[in-house]
Amino acid sequence: METQIRSIEAMDLDNKRVFIRVDFNVPLDGGKVADDTRIQAALPTIKMAREKGARVILASHLGRPKGKVNPKYSMVPVGARLAELLGCEVFVPEDCVGDGPKKLIADLREGGVVLLENLRFHPEEEADDEGFARQLAQLCDAYVNDAFGAAHRAHASVHALPMLVAERGAGLLMQREVSALTALLTKPESPFVAVLGGAKVSDKIAVVDSLLTKVDKLVIGGAMAYTFLAAQGIKLGKSLVEEDKIPVAKRALLKAEARRVQVLLPSDHVCVTEISATAPTTIETNTGFPADGIAVDIGPNTRAAFDSAIASARTVFWNGPMGIFEMEPFAAGTFHVAQAVAHSGATSVVGGGDSVSALKKSGFLPFVSHVSTGGGASLELIEGRDLPGVEALRVNVG
Ligand code: 3PG
Repeated sequence: METQIRSIEAMDLDNKRVFIRVDFNVPLDGGKVADDTRIQAALPTIKMAREKGARVILASHLGRPKGKVNPKYSMVPVGARLAELLGCEVFVPEDCVGDGPKKLIADLREGGVVLLENLRFHPEEEADDEGFARQLAQLCDAYVNDAFGAAHRAHASVHALPMLVAERGAGLLMQREVSALTALLTKPESPFVAVLGGAKVSDKIAVVDSLLTKVDKLVIGGAMAYTFLAAQGIKLGKSLVEEDKIPVAKRALLKAEARRVQVLLPSDHVCVTEISATAPTTIETNTGFPADGIAVDIGPNTRAAFDSAIASARTVFWNGPMGIFEMEPFAAGTFHVAQAVAHSGATSVVGGGDSVSALKKSGFLPFVSHVSTGGGASLELIEGRDLPGVEALRVNVG
């Protein structure tokens, strides 16, 4: 049976109660939204639904409240920011199911907006519980998923619920994300250079494995690079190495060699003897790295080498910082990569909180072709895995 995913553009939403799953998992600070990127990213879908005459029911998770009501993770501040951005009232009931939201939704006019309280206040959400999904399904006539950032979670509002609603489809952000990331896998213009960073090889090994069948060059920075260097017999003092992942890193390096993919690893490092923002730093190379040293960022020669690899690209994918980016003295390598990606002139796709935050802080964000709102979801898509939230939108045709 042939299936397809309908787009919100093709859906008749007039006067319907439309459940839009969004990813409003945003950072809060002092009871206010500290970064509204994800809210802004969902606005085109919300506006389109309102223009089509929908009565809009928005729903999201926020943080990881572990199935319990916790005011720290309430959607109320998100509703306040959304109301400012939309220029209309946004009603936030006390729960996401039950009589409260039912009544609010029943009273909603065309174009009106309700933002349900945090879905993860109920343990059934993460359990992909069908009974809970049925309760959510009672609230709506149509379902749109625009929560790309949560599409890799088989949770009730993302997975069980859409399959209970015949009239379902993908929002504009979801479509844009899936098509930008899928294009990397299916039709990347060569040379294709991937830049991976972050602390753990274990988080990225499936992505490395998948990218090795697609890219011309693989650039690896961040602490995950120290495990790859250890796989080559290079010892970097007390730097973070996942000893149990050395065999996995060795296998990846052999695969790269067999496929003639050039792997660029750091050759020099910003080094400290204690991880503190005020610790004195030195630049150390792979040969003669001090026994008590800890690598915390890529060094100047590495930055130059990574620069020219990125500058040679027609397609770039970047995910993950090059060092302990949270500490300002060790953030330079990550900013450097942000600049190189922005200046490359290549089709560039960036995902992951730290990379996106480096792009934003450095002002280079507008020069990137696609900035993903999904960290885990973008990696799973690159790994070539089906995303439960996307698959659940399929409807039979013919
Ligand atoms: C994210 O921030 O990556 C998404 O909102 C998913 O959140 P989660 O990792 O808590 O499921």
